[in-house]
Amino acid sequence: MPGWLCCPGFFPVTNPIGIFDSGLGGLTVYRALQKLLPHESLVYLGDTARVPYGTKSAPTVTEYSIENTEFLLERAAKIVVVACNTASAYAVPQLQAQFDVPIQGVLNPGAAHAATVTRNGHVGVIGTSGTIASDAYAQALRQINPDLQVTSQSCPLFVPLVEEGWLDRPETVSIAQTYLTPLLEAEVDTIILGCTHYPLLRAVIQQVVGESVTLIDSATATAEVVKDMLGRGGMLPPISANRDAGREHPAPTDHEFWVTDAPERFQRVGEIFLGHSLDNVRKV
Ligand code: DGL
Repeated sequence: MPGWLCCPGFFPVTNPIGIFDSGLGGLTVYRALQKLLPHESLVYLGDTARVPYGTKSAPTVTEYSIENTEFLLERAAKIVVVACNTASAYAVPQLQAQFDVPIQGVLNPGAAHAATVTRNGHVGVIGTSGTIASDAYAQALRQINPDLQVTSQSCPLFVPLVEEGWLDRPETVSIAQTYLTPLLEAEVDTIILGCTHYPLLRAVIQQVVGESVTLIDSATATAEVVKDMLGRGGMLPPISANRDAGREHPAPTDHEFWVTDAPERFQRVGEIFLGHSLDNVRKV
């Protein structure tokens, strides 16, 4: 049993939650964590110098993920959340074997949520070329329920469309139709948005697939799992632990943003992502 689970107090509870992504897409996970765990400090690393991960090989993405985790541990993270789906698909088992802090990817929470909401047992998965090639979502879904049917589709143009802010252009709708038609033909009733950027295309994707198809956002499901892990490990800060006892003395929280390149761009596009100003963006 890992030390953090068997021994509450293994890490100071006021230490931050570490989050890393290949770039700024992981802000969707940051936002979900911030909403669900408002009394936690958060430290976010966007590997903007080496984005995208979605077209890179498993050994390369794993090497980058190890370096990102090391950085977050230097910032005293008590848990590391792998916000990037590609890194979650390729690197989480290696990170869990190598580091003595809890490591949580976005893949299993997203798969678990999809498995519970599908009505016809047929789930679609969309993601980067790397995530889809890894088959990790399909394996996770079948592990939960071997009877599930899974249809996967890589959507490599979605990330650049989001990065350009082309969230509802006619071109975006037409590309979405091309990618999503095979899933509709396969009659999936649930689709996992298996990439950090896809929640920003949610409106277009929903328009193309219709209201009868449920879209699963891994970010929200992951935040729920992280909250549960911290609770079980005795790692929630005092405000959450003591709310029932009526003591409302939260420790001061701090949100840090680190990038490996171009902090100004991260700040500018990140503010569009989050819908509020983003201070404190620093280069590693
Ligand atoms: N963060 C990546 C993911 O969720 C998308 C961007 C990239 O390819 O690096 O898979």
